[in-house]
Amino acid sequence: MAEVMQRPSFEILERDDFSEVTYSLVIHHPLMARAARPGQFVIVMSHEAGERIPLTIADFDREKGTVTLVVQAVGKSTKEMQQSCKVGTALYALVGPMGVPSPLGTAKKVVCVGGGLGVAPIYPQARGFKEHGAYVIGVLGFRTKKLMFWADKFKACCDELILCTDDGSAGIKGFVSDGIKLAIKGHPDIDEVVAIGPPIMMKACAEATRPHKIKTVVSLNPLMVDGTGMCGGCRVKIGGQVKFACVDGPDFDGHQVDFDDLMSRLRRFIAPEKTAMERWTEGCRMKNHIVSSDARSSAQFLPAALTELLELPDPFEEAKGG
Ligand SMILES: Cc1cc2nc3c(=O)[nH]c(=O)nc-3n(C[C@H](O)[C@H](O)[C@H](O)COP(=O)(O)OP(=O)(O)OC[C@H]3O[C@@H](n4cnc5c(N)ncnc54)[C@H](O)[C@@H]3O)c2cc1C
Ligand code: FES
Repeated sequence: MAEVMQRPSFEILERDDFSEVTYSLVIHHPLMARAARPGQFVIVMSHEAGERIPLTIADFDREKGTVTLVVQAVGKSTKEMQQSCKVGTALYALVGPMGVPSPLGTAKKVVCVGGGLGVAPIYPQARGFKEHGAYVIGVLGFRTKKLMFWADKFKACCDELILCTDDGSAGIKGFVSDGIKLAIKGHPDIDEVVAIGPPIMMKACAEATRPHKIKTVVSLNPLMVDGTGMCGGCRVKIGGQVKFACVDGPDFDGHQVDFDDLMSRLRRFIAPEKTAMERWTEGCRMKNHIVSSDARSSAQFLPAALTELLELPDPFEEAKGG
């Protein structure tokens, strides 16, 4: 009898909600866990008709055969995942690991900087540098204490940890660029700074290190479609040359990145993204209405997730943070 190929299930084993908009998913995928390296990403489809979205591998556990993704619900697909990705369910597709792994190289003293959601993807790099014997200084930035996550994981792999919040509710009051300046003041022998977060934050980090001529690596997040170098959607300008972030990156020399070009390209699809979000929200409202006007209906038949969705804050607000 012919052997039937079993499709891997990509089952969600754990979920943790860090805030109203940020959540982590631990996914069963032993092959991916074995192959993943710090700095790489996956492309996810949450259901058969879902959009393909790139997400960084925020953690992997080779023994347990799991990979961890940390997602910020900013638009239609990530909000849809926030509703549907429960423990025991499965993603429809998960492709990767993609991108060039971050070179953990020979640096002896490194500053790993994560701003907002960027805290998640910088974690495997901080751990990787530590495993390679480097002295690791973590600099983590959040808008406020309430949005903080994974400080314990960083404490376990960093020799020093500088927490920054915009409002001073935890750690120092200031941005991660202030944290970098503090680290440089205390350590004139820093070999490398690695920064992940919103483009405006990575630009500020690159400017903080430029006068000191410290090697600065940033992880770019342009729009991606195929993730394999074929569509050209993810092109970025590095030192005047065009590169594709999905196959040449996503890590690049922060002093060479044209951040203004990156930020303007990221804004290109704001109108259709808003339309997709509105159409989806309207669909949820309709479903809500149908359920609530059912003869048997009462609050007990209202899907809680749909009600929650309508109460979520501005989807773009959190993405601006860090
Ligand atoms: C290499 C890489 C790693 C990433 N890692 C993470 C991660 O670990 N966690 C996380 O929450 N987000 C990550 N992102 C961003 C994530 O892919 C987008 O937030 C997501 O695609 C938004 O889709 P949406 O439908 O929810 O929102 P939309 O409303 O469609 O878009 C909201 C914003 O997200 C960005 N975006 C939209 N579509 C894409 C796309 N196809 N590719 C890249 N950016 C897009 C744009 O800036 C857009 O304005 C990563 C992006 C890249 C390129
Ligand atoms: S995502 Fe298509 S070329 Fe990079």
